[in-house]
Amino acid sequence: MAGSISPMNGGSGTHSYARNSTWQRSGAAAVEDALKEAVMENLDLQKVLCDSKSNTFVVADLGCSVGPNSFHAMETIIKAVQRKCDKISLEFQVAFNDRIGNDFNTLFASLPEHGRRNYFAMAVAGSFYGNLFPSSSVHIAYSSASLNWLSKVPVGLTAEGSPAWNAAKIHYSGAPDAVARAYEEQFEEDMDIYFRCRAREIAAGGLILITMAAVPNRDVQHRMAHTLTFIEPVLIDMVKEGVLAQERVDLFNIPIIFPCIEEIRRLVEKNKCFEIVKMERLEVEGDAKNAVMHIRAALEGSLNNHFGNEIVEQVFERAIQHQHKLHSALMNTTSTGIFAVLRRN
Ligand SMILES: C[S@@+](CC[C@H](N)C(=O)[O-])C[C@H]1O[C@@H](n2cnc3c(N)ncnc32)[C@H](O)[C@@H]1O
Repeated sequence: MAGSISPMNGGSGTHSYARNSTWQRSGAAAVEDALKEAVMENLDLQKVLCDSKSNTFVVADLGCSVGPNSFHAMETIIKAVQRKCDKISLEFQVAFNDRIGNDFNTLFASLPEHGRRNYFAMAVAGSFYGNLFPSSSVHIAYSSASLNWLSKVPVGLTAEGSPAWNAAKIHYSGAPDAVARAYEEQFEEDMDIYFRCRAREIAAGGLILITMAAVPNRDVQHRMAHTLTFIEPVLIDMVKEGVLAQERVDLFNIPIIFPCIEEIRRLVEKNKCFEIVKMERLEVEGDAKNAVMHIRAALEGSLNNHFGNEIVEQVFERAIQHQHKLHSALMNTTSTGIFAVLRRN
């Protein structure tokens, strides 16, 4: 569908997310110990099992993509629960969730074999900005690098004459303030739904564990924003050369936000169903290598939907030629984010 959001590149080829997601993996690795600690110290096991009336412990990875990052995180979480519940006999089930177009085939083909994993696996396809599970049936929900994706391009960005009309730009970075505000409003609407749905699905005493890119305040540009806006001049050059219509660029926007930490806190508090046990700032060392490959693995599908494969092939050929500029913009910068532990009241 034209303009629709696409999941990460599937398969295991050169441009796949599976082979180009070490940035996201560094974020997850940075919180591995914190994940274990969060489970050991904050999961209310008696309460959560009593509320869900089941001895099957369910962990949901919301926005799992195709692996392997998800597998590491699920293993870490389950090992921590096992250590905590040595007197209770539990079976584990992992619900791998992502949007409908996600390459679940690659995910399941690369899942560790049964002898090497201690959980049953199921796929739950659909947006986490909506109901995904029966009431009180999930014990831990985990979202890593997925809540930066909005449910859609904010209203007004593609409407000529609207204050948020985002002509010749593909993101709010460097755009008029009305554009950034439109992203923030969409984020608030999406997070309202996300927390409302999780409040129904997570058993009392259960946890949400979130890692995501975030900024300390609204005026700071996130490191990742450079990688998004890096494509803008490439597209504009193609317009100047007559390869691409200006209108196609005007109508394309990437629905990714890097929210402020305090804004995330406000939105959790607004929901009232979760206690904020921990919300800490993360700084992950930035690796500038393979930046274009990372952008491609994450955005190629969305670009293809809008511009078509032939144009997108050219976009990335040109982007590779200019990648030294992106590397120098990214060198010596850290990627900031948050790690949050929320407990269902
Ligand atoms: C950057 S990837 C992160 C994948 C994985 N969690 C990791 O850490 O490597 C973001 C994932 O979130 C998924 N995602 C974004 N919005 C979603 C939504 N509304 N519902 C389900 N999944 C979503 C994307 O399809 C993508 O697979």
